[in-house]
Amino acid sequence: MHQPREGMRKEETPLQHSTESSSLYAELPPRLAEALPRISTPAYVADAAALRKNMAVAERIRAEAGCRILLATKSFAMPAVFPLMRDSLDGTTASGLFEARLGREEFGKEVHVYSPAYTPGGLKALLEVADHFYFNSPEQISRFLPAVKSSGKGGKIGIRINPGYSNVTLGGDLYDPCSPQSRFGVSRTGLDRLPWDEIDILHVHALCESMADGSVSLIRHMAREFGAYIGRVSAVNFGGGHFINKQGYDVDALIAAVRDFRAEFDVEVILEPGSGLVVDAGYLVATVLDVIRSETDIAILDASAACHMPDVLEVPYTPPVYGAAEPGVLPYDCILGGNTCMAGDIIGEYSFPGPLRTGDRIVFGDMMQYSFVKNNAFNGTPLPDLVLLHEDGRAEVVRRFTYGDFRSRLG
Ligand SMILES: Cc1ncc(COP(=O)(O)O)c(C=O)c1O
Repeated sequence: MHQPREGMRKEETPLQHSTESSSLYAELPPRLAEALPRISTPAYVADAAALRKNMAVAERIRAEAGCRILLATKSFAMPAVFPLMRDSLDGTTASGLFEARLGREEFGKEVHVYSPAYTPGGLKALLEVADHFYFNSPEQISRFLPAVKSSGKGGKIGIRINPGYSNVTLGGDLYDPCSPQSRFGVSRTGLDRLPWDEIDILHVHALCESMADGSVSLIRHMAREFGAYIGRVSAVNFGGGHFINKQGYDVDALIAAVRDFRAEFDVEVILEPGSGLVVDAGYLVATVLDVIRSETDIAILDASAACHMPDVLEVPYTPPVYGAAEPGVLPYDCILGGNTCMAGDIIGEYSFPGPLRTGDRIVFGDMMQYSFVKNNAFNGTPLPDLVLLHEDGRAEVVRRFTYGDFRSRLG
């Protein structure tokens, strides 16, 4: 489904090599440093070698813990790299019809879907593409169970519960799916109203960028608090947020916790991370368009927080920049901002080895999760290219967005 490569040239954004700026690139992975002059900006660059390393960790967890791992496509969905991921995972999990169809058509393998609320038309369409259906309330189950059963697909039925436990390392309430007021999952008081004879999978999602202590605590919490219900299902899905490829994540601890859980309950275990599968496996490359000399200099980039890295404003957080440090650490402080009209389109304040100049490339790290899947073209801001940095160093533009993409969404 990739666009033809013909006619893809866009305005060149030549890489400058001032003495100061070249030290910006010293820390880049060598293949990216080598490819950088050939990458037009802005561009999200998926790093095939880093992704392969991440997949090896997923494979080890599957093998040693004896669990299934699904890719949560809400976090990361780039069909061009699915061939690198497919053999290492069991399938995908979707937030609704379009993601489920993407999983079916582009990833293959099993497709799970969870939605806070299905509609009759939506569920009918989902029956064509998804395998397993997770519900959010007893009412949704009783309304749609007959359709799932009569489809004859043999799809498993999941129920999401609110476990009353969460371990969310960023975003506070915005990203806590398990607060007492959460709309996600049946609360403990509602559990006895569920038709347990019809339910195959008990589902919880309680983590966000959580290290192994979060994963392990969730697993132990479920074992301690919900044993009676776990005894009635054939699988438990511990959701996403397991940051399994983040440096310092204790993979062995996760494996041990899953093994203990399986030994205690004799059920299948499913994990459905998104971010944990693609953490540190890609970049957003931008170019400095101008530098406004001010009390603290402000560089205007062709990448935007508001359009291209919305989590920077939502979480909020300051993304890592290669060759830069926190303000005051290196000799030159500079604020990085986007090229939109929004006053708050500020990516962050950093320090650099020397003054930034028009034409310098800025490389943001860890830019695969919740970036291009969430971006937008506010102000008519061009969307970044999607680029795949192959293991042999080739930088392949797998998608370039045009005025036509912008226009088509405006009706
Ligand atoms: C139900 C569910 N599963 C999986 C995920 C993936 O989480 P992450 O990308 O943090 O691993 C999410 C994220 O919001 C989710 O809501």
